[in-house]
Order: sequence, then C-alpha cells, then structure tokens
Amino acid sequence: MLRYAQNAQRMWSSEVNTAVVEVLGLHRNEYLADIGAGVGAGASKAAVSAGQVFAVEPTPYMRRILSARSRLSRNPFAVVAGSAEATTLPDDSMHAIMAVNTMHHWVDMDAACTELARVLRPGGRLLLVDENFDDPTHPDHEKWSSQHGEDSGHSHHFHMVDTDAVAANLSEAGLTVSAHGEGQFAGSPSWFVQIS
Ligand SMILES: C[S@@+](CC[C@H](N)C(=O)[O-])C[C@H]1O[C@@H](n2cnc3c(N)ncnc32)[C@H](O)[C@@H]1O
Repeated sequence: MLRYAQNAQRMWSSEVNTAVVEVLGLHRNEYLADIGAGVGAGASKAAVSAGQVFAVEPTPYMRRILSARSRLSRNPFAVVAGSAEATTLPDDSMHAIMAVNTMHHWVDMDAACTELARVLRPGGRLLLVDENFDDPTHPDHEKWSSQHGEDSGHSHHFHMVDTDAVAANLSEAGLTVSAHGEGQFAGSPSWFVQIS
C-alpha cells in the first residue's frame, strides 16, 4: 500500500501507458481490456478512443479508485474484478489487450497466457509491457533505487520478466507473437510482448 502511495502520481498518469495505448491504435467500435489496471492510467487513456474499455483489477482498493475515476470521467470505463489468470471476460471478446507494469505480479504465467488467448478475438492485438526500473538508463531509476534498492530496506526489484517464456506460453495457447524482448516505451527501457 505504501509503495503505491509513493508512486501515486506515476500510477495516475504515465507516459508508458499512453505510449502503449497509442501503439494499439484503438477504434470507436473496439473493446480493450487493461489487465492489472491499477488506478486507471491506461484504461482512462484508452477510453478516449476505444468503444468500451474493461479495467480488470484484482485489488479491491484499486477497484474503488477505478470506479470513482470512471464515474468522474467524460470517457467512463467498466471496472472488472478479475486477474490476468481469470479475467471473467467472455471468450473472443476483446479486440485489444494491454497490461503495463503488472506481468511481474502474475502468479501463474501459463494460466494467464491461456486466459488472454481465450478472451482475445481472432486477429486481435496485445501489448504487455513491464518497465525495467533496474536499468540505469531508465528515467526513474534513481528514485526507484532509493525507494526499493538494497540500501532502502525494501529490496523490491522488478524481477526480470522472461518474455521468451511469455511468448512461448502465448504461442502454445494458439496466438502468434509478433515481437518480444527488450524495448523502449516513452523513453523507458522495458520488457514487452506484442501481437500486432
Ligand atoms: C504497478 S501496478 C500497475 C498498474 C497500472 N497497469 C499502471 O500502469 O499504472 C500493478 C497492478 O497489478 C495488479 N495485479 C496484481 N496481481 C495481478 C494479477 N495476477 N493479474 C492482474 N493484475 C494483477 C495490482 O493490483 C496492481 O494494480
């Protein structure tokens, strides 16, 4: 909870979420799921251009903030109690799926990939991005290290996301991954997996 409070501003609105929404290129007749939506940095941005956005979030505290944010927004979105492993969304229902800084939380990557393959429509797009705050070139590396580094007493690293394994799991689940590995989103070094 304290960790989220310390990063409230970057969770409310983040350039990486904006970049991911832009890459997905959403249209008015399309549905998007933001998996692990947090307080809605991605969902609120996507709702401006998509037909309907589903902010999937397992943490009740986050969902309360998401619901309030959606109610106050000119572009509301649906708030869904779910996780990457169990979104509760219907089969083949999403034109696009995004997830930012949440892959490292997924407890069962196999189940998550099977679930994403279940809800993504044939021909749908997907972009999963986890920023690499441990990379010294990341704009927030210093701040991150002082909050989470070994000297801070927290020692919470964004552990390396194995994008080879995520891509393999998605392929096994029947999806064709276009690109994965290390990349840059809004100038932030990140791990990503993309279906375009
Ligand atoms: C660092 S926050 C990122 C939130 C948002 N995507 C953003 O970019 O601001 C990580 C989020 O992942 C959520 N989360 C944790 N476990 C999850 C899971 N198994 N599936 C989906 N989301 C999960 C947390 O509740 C939290 O909201």
